[in-house]
Amino acid sequence: MTTAPTFILNDGKAMPQLGFGVWQISDAAAAAVIKTAVSIGYRSIDTAAYYKNEIGVGRGVRECGVDRKDLFVTTKLWNTRHGYDEAFKAFDESMERLGLDYIDLYLIHWPVAGSEKYVDAWKAFVKLRESGRVKSIGVSNFMEEHLERIIGETGVKPVLDQIEIHPFFQQKGLTTILRDQGIFPEAWSPLGKGKSVELPAIIEMARKYGKSPAQIIIRWHLQSGRIVIPKSANPGRLRENFEALDFVLDDADVAAMDALDRNERMDMDPRTFTGLDLM
Ligand SMILES: NC(=O)c1ccc[n+]([C@@H]2O[C@H](COP(=O)([O-])OP(=O)(O)OC[C@H]3O[C@@H](n4cnc5c(N)ncnc54)[C@H](OP(=O)(O)O)[C@@H]3O)[C@@H](O)[C@H]2O)c1
Repeated sequence: MTTAPTFILNDGKAMPQLGFGVWQISDAAAAAVIKTAVSIGYRSIDTAAYYKNEIGVGRGVRECGVDRKDLFVTTKLWNTRHGYDEAFKAFDESMERLGLDYIDLYLIHWPVAGSEKYVDAWKAFVKLRESGRVKSIGVSNFMEEHLERIIGETGVKPVLDQIEIHPFFQQKGLTTILRDQGIFPEAWSPLGKGKSVELPAIIEMARKYGKSPAQIIIRWHLQSGRIVIPKSANPGRLRENFEALDFVLDDADVAAMDALDRNERMDMDPRTFTGLDLM
């Protein structure tokens, strides 16, 4: 069976470069999707308290037949739970729902515009890592100023920053800043929420390689050195996406993908998004 390459994070832990996201997969459906994905070869699963499917994800992880130590589970702290004590409580609640002894990666989901409580949340994350119940700690949707704050206050760098990256929104500037600090970029909505597969330039490239547009996009993320977590609830597409591991794009085609950038964000902007009214 094909396995995804692993990256060694800045804390020495290993993480598969290709995983899958379970946003918008219901709690009831999550366990079955995880079992299917694991049978295909996926070992890394990205969930969040916000996705309201941690119970199903935990069940899938426990029942999928692969040793816990060979799986990589990520979950995230939601925006309303920032602050030092609150982060511990929210973590305990996630662990209760997941029914796991530890998670591999805990992320601050968003910095939350207009608040600095993410700094206290990060201090709690550092303690959680020391406790061993979280193996690695990271962030999501953090910009340069947020990274400077948490690193300045604690001296601890996140292992990765999970950010929106797809062909029309590549965040090259932030990615360079992350790489300079030894922080991996992880692409969320890597297929542009499924919209990027309709781009004519990508469809044409897919024809050239005899691959699907989604495989071209995932392959581009992989060759660009990003961690990538496409979501699918469909067994055929889960397999198709995993098979992006099995071919190589020419350098010229990677450059052609890089050139598609239009700086067009599809989702919330961390400079203005609070999400405090959600969940
Ligand atoms: N940190 C954050 O703030 C944040 C925000 C958004 C997402 N995320 C994470 O990133 C993951 C992925 O992002 P996303 O779900 O927004 O978008 P995405 O992975 O870019 O796209 C998912 C969409 O593409 C479709 N799709 C998947 N594989 C396909 C294929 N081979 N061909 C055609 N269509 C395909 C899926 O439909 P089917 O399911 O029907 O296949 C779904 O509609 C999420 O699940 C979540 O874990 C994180």
